[in-house]
Amino acid sequence: MYYSDELIEEVRSRNNIEDVIGSYVHLQKKGANYWGLCPFHSEKTGSFSVNAPKQMYHCFGCNESGNVFTFLMKYENMTFQEAVQTLAERAGITLPKAEMSPESKKKADRREKIMDCNKEAAIYFYKMLKTPHGEVGLKYLSEKRRLSDETIHKFGLGYAPKDSTQIVEYLRSKGFDDDIIMATGLATYNEKYGLRSLFWNRVMFPIFSANGKVIGFGGRVMGDGEPKYLNSPETEVFNKRRNLFGLSFARKSRADNVIICEGYMDVIAMHQAGFDQAVASLGTAFTSEQANILRRFSKSVLLAYDSDGAGTKAALRNIGILREVGLSGKIINMKPYKDPDEFIKNLGADAFKERIANAENSFYFEIRQLESDFNLSDPEEKTAFHREIAKKLCRFEEEVERDNYTQAICAKYNITLESMRKLVLSEAGKGIEAKPIERPKSGINKKTDKEDNLKKAQRVLLTWITDDVTLYGKVKSYISPEDFTEGIYRKVAERLFADIEEGKYNPAGIINMFQDEEEQRAAASLFNTNLPKLDTPAERSKAFHDVVLAVKKTAYEYYTSKLGSDVTALSKVVEGKKALEALEKTSFNLE
Ligand code: UTP
Ligand code: MN
Repeated sequence: MYYSDELIEEVRSRNNIEDVIGSYVHLQKKGANYWGLCPFHSEKTGSFSVNAPKQMYHCFGCNESGNVFTFLMKYENMTFQEAVQTLAERAGITLPKAEMSPESKKKADRREKIMDCNKEAAIYFYKMLKTPHGEVGLKYLSEKRRLSDETIHKFGLGYAPKDSTQIVEYLRSKGFDDDIIMATGLATYNEKYGLRSLFWNRVMFPIFSANGKVIGFGGRVMGDGEPKYLNSPETEVFNKRRNLFGLSFARKSRADNVIICEGYMDVIAMHQAGFDQAVASLGTAFTSEQANILRRFSKSVLLAYDSDGAGTKAALRNIGILREVGLSGKIINMKPYKDPDEFIKNLGADAFKERIANAENSFYFEIRQLESDFNLSDPEEKTAFHREIAKKLCRFEEEVERDNYTQAICAKYNITLESMRKLVLSEAGKGIEAKPIERPKSGINKKTDKEDNLKKAQRVLLTWITDDVTLYGKVKSYISPEDFTEGIYRKVAERLFADIEEGKYNPAGIINMFQDEEEQRAAASLFNTNLPKLDTPAERSKAFHDVVLAVKKTAYEYYTSKLGSDVTALSKVVEGKKALEALEKTSFNLE
């Protein structure tokens, strides 16, 4: 059983989208819409809009759109049911106990099983440490890496035995099917040997999701073998772009910052030394998704990367990613050690604490790195260096902030304030010209394949009508829901037109006709297509006429092609021909 449509609608209508989204995203009212930085992609200028009359959001940058439910589904990674429950609670509505749809239940059950299987495996690896087989692992962790029993326990570290069938058999004995065992990524199938563990003779680092479920593993060789770390592949439960090693602990930390580093061992060493706010990306480059997740926990991010070339490069890259989601990073100087693990091992927690306190503002860090690219005794290069500084200063959008940094950097590099200000102004001017127009003028959609072009007109028409329902009256004698040739478009048009006929207007509610998340997104996009920006009523009238004509033509061609196979097509073709002729002679008057 699902929640009834009425109930879903009640929950939706009692949660103002601008209030709900406003609690996640800083929104500012501009004109009819609220605007903010899009939470779904990285950006510096707000292309994310919340439309109160429509009760929908739309990003003009990444084209995400939807209603209050889809927002939570996307932002909080919730299922539809969870989003309904959360918002019902927020509005003080009591829900009857609902069951999931059979499909989502099946999917959820399977994910649960995979994570259970991972958990059993983690327990198995952990227990191995206390067996004669696993003694090497324990020795490695406690002696070589100097980890306490408490740390080993907290992180659930373990040992994968040399025999690569053992773990498979163990998991089978615990009742897991081969299908699930393979779905964890822990084992692979081989014609000759059957299921074999991916990890053998390695110390194991379970990877936990933000809420503490085992979703994958990293395994380290104890000697010099290759690869040094082997990681679980991505699976149904393990998305490397969206998870961070140590996050389940760090999110509960009371520190007012979060520390990002490169390695499993670095996270563990920092936690052991009391820095329980440390996380690492998972053997892959730091992503904007991860930055967005961190943004929910902390405003201030510290980077503890290797001070060598590669580490500095990674730090610079990540500063950019952090900046784009509105976080400012600071860089912890690790010299003369290569990572936090070694630093702490050699200089201790207090010294590390001091380095945290003295972490360098990312702007100065960038400028310092930049400096080494120029030969400052050469006047030309010196000018180029100053110009690069000016470029970076332009990124501070707030004047006070930019001025503060300008003064500070001028003092530091002995540059006269006046000349730097001039440079900044000239660079800022360039920026405006060079900047691509962010809201494409008729950016109906970036995709240009033929199919899409056909549907484009249908989308534009639906959006146009939802933006101004009076337009429905102008087109209803020409356009009917059957002119929308694709399933989801048809359903949306049917409901929208019927609603308007009945004097209701509720596009956000229409989205909930669809249970599937992809369908909801597709439906939402139908109401949020970018309309051509046109200045005069004449231009608008003409453009609207073109769109109506295009929709009708597409439908006419579609039904013509169906003439042989579909008996109902004939009447549509006849009707379409008439309507097209009538349309040719008609013009619309838009304000
Ligand atoms: P490093 O090579 O810097 O190693 O890899 P480390 O973290 O200092 O490891 P220890 O101290 O020698 O044990 C940094 C991170 O890159 C990923 C791992 O996440 C590792 O922690 N990595 C490295 C891999 O995924 N595979 C590799 O083969 C090497
Ligand atoms: Mn290390």
